[in-house]
Amino acid sequence: GLPARVRIHEVGARDGLQNEKGTVPTEVKAEFIRRLAAAGLTTVEATSFVHPKWVPQLADAEALFPQLAGLDGVALPVLVPNQRGLDRALALGATRIAVFGSATETFASRNLNRTVAESLAMFEPVVARAKQEEAHVRGYLSMCFGDPWEGPVPVHQVVRVATALLDLGCDELSLGDTIGVATPGHVQALLAALNEAGVPTDRIGVHFHDTYGQALSNTLAALQHGVSTVDASAGGLGGCPYAKSATGNLATEDLVWMLDGLGIETGVDLAALTATSVWMAEQLGRPSPSRTVRALSHK
Ligand code: HMG
Ligand code: MG
Repeated sequence: GLPARVRIHEVGARDGLQNEKGTVPTEVKAEFIRRLAAAGLTTVEATSFVHPKWVPQLADAEALFPQLAGLDGVALPVLVPNQRGLDRALALGATRIAVFGSATETFASRNLNRTVAESLAMFEPVVARAKQEEAHVRGYLSMCFGDPWEGPVPVHQVVRVATALLDLGCDELSLGDTIGVATPGHVQALLAALNEAGVPTDRIGVHFHDTYGQALSNTLAALQHGVSTVDASAGGLGGCPYAKSATGNLATEDLVWMLDGLGIETGVDLAALTATSVWMAEQLGRPSPSRTVRALSHK
């Protein structure tokens, strides 16, 4: 059956903003994150400690993260690809990090400048030290369904890298449909294969991009399988600079509209969240692509 409660892992400030052409001022990012927290989101991914030349839009991580210090009770995970990134994050007091691997060789090479095996080797000491420091570690896995260069990705290939990430010590796994090509049957097949390989559903989150309009259907398929951690981005912001044809994530508002209708608790105030996305759209100078944001803001 469906879960009674879903934890939304909000990625708008990271996955959303990493792909913006113009520079979003650090103060605007901090205000965005504060407003997301005020709307009831309890996990708000804040930024990435990656190479500033690879993702210039998040190069202000050192300036941004300390501005969030007053947000008690809100988990603020940050992306960390390697030891240098972990040093930077721990120096600022981060207590939740995420490493990010790829199920395909092409994307591992383009996103991390490593093979899949080399990227796992890069993460190994990161996860070990993070655990030593009692940080919570999420393991993202990209291209779980299809890859723009390699095409459809076999389920067994995804299972292999997913279990390798968990074996490193990651607390949770987030299954990324980086380019939004998944469909519900494929989602359920992957979840079943992961269970068969010994991965319990309660350690799995789902991360859908909405390129083909399937993100919400895929989410429902995952909920029916028992998944209760769902990644989404306020207003549907997003994309990945290193994956061609990656558009925005599942919009948090679209997700909350569905969950509210199903009677599934999220703790999120949809009106406050929509107002936040309308405000952010004004900052970015273009309307939110979320249907729910448009419907609720044109009443
Ligand atoms: P590299 O060029 O191989 O790095 O990049 P390197 O290890 O050879 O180091 C080269 C130089 O970079 C060194 O400096 C390092 O110190 C420096 P030098 O000694 O030459 O002066 N350096 C760093 N500086 C600051 N912070 C760091 C750092 N690391 C090295 N952390 C690297 C390898 C992993 C660094 C690079 O490929 C990178 O930063 N990639 C990040 C790409 C990224 O952020 N992509 C978007 C996030 S993933 C995503 O969006 C998908 C997701 O949403 C899920 C889904 O949708 O599927 C999560
Ligand atoms: Mg993503």
